[in-house]
Amino acid sequence: MKNILITGGAGYIGSHTAVELVKAGYRPIIIDDLSNSQKAVLERLQEITGMDIPFYLGDCSNRSLLEQIAKDYELSGVIHFAAFKAVGESTQEPLKYYKNNVGSLLVLLEFMEAHSILDLVFSSSCTVYGQPDVLPVTEDTPRKDAESPYGNTKKVCEDILVDLIKSKSVLRIISLRYFNPIGAHPSGKIGELPSGVPNNLVPFVTQTAAGIRKKLTVFGDDYDTPDGSCVRDFIHVMDLADAHVKALTYLENKTPNFYDVFNVGTGDGNTVLEVIHTFEEVNDIKLNYEIGPRRPGDVVKIWADTTKINQVLGWHPKYSLADSLRDSWNWEKKLKE
Ligand code: NAD
Ligand code: WQD
Repeated sequence: MKNILITGGAGYIGSHTAVELVKAGYRPIIIDDLSNSQKAVLERLQEITGMDIPFYLGDCSNRSLLEQIAKDYELSGVIHFAAFKAVGESTQEPLKYYKNNVGSLLVLLEFMEAHSILDLVFSSSCTVYGQPDVLPVTEDTPRKDAESPYGNTKKVCEDILVDLIKSKSVLRIISLRYFNPIGAHPSGKIGELPSGVPNNLVPFVTQTAAGIRKKLTVFGDDYDTPDGSCVRDFIHVMDLADAHVKALTYLENKTPNFYDVFNVGTGDGNTVLEVIHTFEEVNDIKLNYEIGPRRPGDVVKIWADTTKINQVLGWHPKYSLADSLRDSWNWEKKLKE
């Protein structure tokens, strides 16, 4: 059984990916400092997968902890999720973001080279495209200046990976540029755990439906889009998790010294108002919302061209927007219980 180190594996996307890795015959090994997640996730993963997933509590920038893991398990690959991701906070505390997001990648890369652990899947983001001029965005769409220090950490990390591969490193690396992950494991046992007031749309929607928030504000309905609200490419987190497994198995068949980048989205855009109305319809709930002013810095519309990941990795999303919003609500209800 191949052992895959998952940094940030107790978090939202990492925990769902752990499930898919087990399903595909891998043993995930999680390192997480629980800075944005809870230990209970590990028990939930055990319930879902039937596997006692090894867990190391700590910072993945801690080289001696990584050395300990390498002693305990022969690792064949790494999926690097661990990062801070609060866009607003990153503008207030940029160094915290550069230190964690860029610093952890550097430590991991040195560790992987030292141990000849060849395969890395890196969590990048559609945020690297900024406000795109042409839609949908392909992997060749020029990246723009990042809107936030958080966004820039993803751009810088991608550049580091490109430079490393140019230097003839033996590593085989894929950056996945996630669009907007939503939804939860259909069991409702794991999902997204936003800390404080959610910034992202769907957690705000589910918390409003659950009565935790009084009202959802739609940030603008006067954009140049079908109904005036912004457009995003919302992808079910289980589909996103599956993309990591496909990326990993693809890397295993590559010769050393390899880098590529893939968009992971559905290939379709939906407006904020469509999300609200689909949520109401599929869950038979009336959502309390109002139209408010635009959110400064918002991308007006973005969705992915997924031709590359469809053709090269053979990955296709299985879940619809309605499925995602049903699973998000199911998770929120279970959380309330
Ligand atoms: P998350 O916060 O739920 O998960 C990240 C996990 O990493 C958390 O469990 C946190 O405790 C842990 N962590 C952070 N720094 C660490 C460190 N130095 N050492 C060990 N553990 C650490 O976030 P997520 O939504 O699952 O995102 C995972 C990755 O995907 C991140 O790199 C994020 O930037 C990227 N991403 C997320 C989105 C999104 O909308 N959720 C979109 C694009 C990209
Ligand atoms: C989606 C749409 C809002 C909340 C963020 C990060 C980005 C990337 C993806 C990680 C927008 C609208 C939201 C609300 C609203 N993450 N909205 N009312 O803007 O795509 O980007 O997640 O890499 O870096 O910035 O996602 O969920 O914040 O917003 O109307 O209460 O929902 O204006 O149009 P976004 P989001």
